[in-house]
Amino acid sequence: YDAWLGTLEGTGKGTIEGAGAWFGTVIVNEQHEVIESARAEWCKAAEELYGIQPSVSQTAGEGASGLLLGTFGSSALLDEALGPDASSAVTGPEGFLIRADRERRRIAVGAKTPAGVLYGVFHLLRLLRTGAVPEELNAVENPVNGLRMINQWDNMDGSIERGYAGKSIFYENNRITENLDRIRDYARLLASTGINAIAINNVNVHRYETMLLTKEYLPDVAKIAAVFRAYAIKLFLSINYASPLEIGGLSTADPLDPNVRAWWKSTAADVYAAIPDFGGFLVKADSENRPGPFTYGRDHADGSNMLAEALQPYGGLVIWRCFVYNCKQDWRDRQTDRARAAYDHFMPLDGRFLDNVILQIKNGPMDFQVREPVSPLFGGLEATNQVIEFQITQEYTGQQRHLCYLVPQWKEVLDFDTYAKGEGSPVKRIVDGSMFGSRHSGFAAVSNIGDDTNWTGHLLAQANLYGFGRLAWNPELSAEEISREWIRQTFGAEEQVVRTVMGMLMDSWSIYESYTAPLGVGWMVNPDHHYGPNVDGYEYSKWGTYHFADCHGIGVDRTVATGTGYTAQYKGRNAEVYESPADCPDELLLFFHHVPYTHRLHSGKTVIQHIYNTHFEGVERADGLKEAWAGLAGSLPDELHGQVAERLAHQAVHAREWRDIINTYFYRKSGIADEQGRTIY
Ligand code: GCU
Repeated sequence: YDAWLGTLEGTGKGTIEGAGAWFGTVIVNEQHEVIESARAEWCKAAEELYGIQPSVSQTAGEGASGLLLGTFGSSALLDEALGPDASSAVTGPEGFLIRADRERRRIAVGAKTPAGVLYGVFHLLRLLRTGAVPEELNAVENPVNGLRMINQWDNMDGSIERGYAGKSIFYENNRITENLDRIRDYARLLASTGINAIAINNVNVHRYETMLLTKEYLPDVAKIAAVFRAYAIKLFLSINYASPLEIGGLSTADPLDPNVRAWWKSTAADVYAAIPDFGGFLVKADSENRPGPFTYGRDHADGSNMLAEALQPYGGLVIWRCFVYNCKQDWRDRQTDRARAAYDHFMPLDGRFLDNVILQIKNGPMDFQVREPVSPLFGGLEATNQVIEFQITQEYTGQQRHLCYLVPQWKEVLDFDTYAKGEGSPVKRIVDGSMFGSRHSGFAAVSNIGDDTNWTGHLLAQANLYGFGRLAWNPELSAEEISREWIRQTFGAEEQVVRTVMGMLMDSWSIYESYTAPLGVGWMVNPDHHYGPNVDGYEYSKWGTYHFADCHGIGVDRTVATGTGYTAQYKGRNAEVYESPADCPDELLLFFHHVPYTHRLHSGKTVIQHIYNTHFEGVERADGLKEAWAGLAGSLPDELHGQVAERLAHQAVHAREWRDIINTYFYRKSGIADEQGRTIY
């Protein structure tokens, strides 16, 4: 339950020499709820890690030992301990400095704001939990991204859209829960990774959720906001674009209608009266049957700017999602290409959004598949605030029953060169705001937690939640480093455990990819719930997600020469590389091209043989995960070991289902036998 903030029995306790002197006292002289959270986190951890209950004092003499906490200038002792360069080293409001003084056995954590102090304390704990000794504790950190946001897809009936870890911790029976303790513990977990914003309801806003903006529900929303505020996390709400109709008594939601504009202004006033530091609105509009400005012949700039004006007096933000496409497509229509949609809708609007509007763009052009190219809106839009949206919840990557550590996937996306300003224009420089000098920018992701005791269903899926926060703070961290941090804090320092779990995590995305949809083509899942193989599940449906397999070949032709022209949405070399079947990277070949089964990949294999090989190997590798974990029995508490073992056993069986259905399907379509004569049905 404590995840990476806890301590497993027998790991790490009391291992620091002189811990009593270093950690016996906390000196803090500011009254601020976030600093109070920082102090409380420290005291709780000191007890768990070292069996020390630190005494708290407001003042101390020159030579005092212990932990000094505070904002710059809050005490002369702190400023002296941090040294003269402290305020220049910490560049922004959320950065911090940690300085150790070996002689005095004193550690100072300082920042410009209470939030920075909180991040500093969590970082200090991370360092100690991962084996640092107090003498060496010197660190300066500044977050790379401004907005580091979590999106809950929780509904007020207690269900969670695409949730695989139990029910909502926020709602039950169409009310906000009274159990704020669980929410507080979630806030602690999030803040410890550096998250600073959260939208607490599903982007699909239904009847009850629409009413969160009303005076009946706002007092309860304010209670949740207060819990998050103590951890420096701003609260946002997803809103229903049709609210003026549904709860406002108006006959239209037209963004240019004066009554609609007035209604949103007065609603914003109500929200800010209840929650003065409210973050703003997250909006899914004109997307998958949700209402939006299109109904009134207006565009997304009209729609979002109207909301932005209402929030602007309070410093609120409108986060407007770009997941807009035709979800009622005719599968017979080969010209409409869902991959093109976001770019086609939003590129013409670049520069028209007010500066408190941010576009939230999914990492790929489709929908969080195990493999897709990067959305061409990154590098396309130049004059618009942007955040990248990832999906921590594993909708298409095994639903937390299969192991799939997603940090390596996110790293690839962030490092992708968009050529927006020529070579060396990676996505991470766009979403951190530096490439185009955006006023607001950052990361958002769909959470993977629910009320399961271990939060994420699959215990090892905690690494994805942890990893998202860490990557949002600093995209330069490697996937290995993040996994090592997470493992050491969660399972302790035993080398065999660290090595084994890290190996499992680092291989898991590639394993999952190998036995599911091949070469970037995506989908092949059962409709609706999206779990398990169904090659033609979406082939003749309205959702725009096709693979076009026939007896000759497979893949989607998205070229300019003969296909949908999608490749032209990329810049520079990317457009050329994707346009050419000879140059296109193997892993995306079927996303961009329709090729014969006998087409030879760069790997030297034909497409059909690649499909067979990867699916056979994938099952072996899934078995390997199970065996690797079995080797840790006895090194971890039985209960924890058992729950993961159970999921890995299911994964191994389910990987066979994937293998056999995919291999059989393509064997029957192509009539080409496996070179190695393995069993295909
Ligand atoms: C996917 C997902 C939906 C979700 C949507 C979105 O399509 O399956 O459940 O609502 O993404 O991101 O809005």
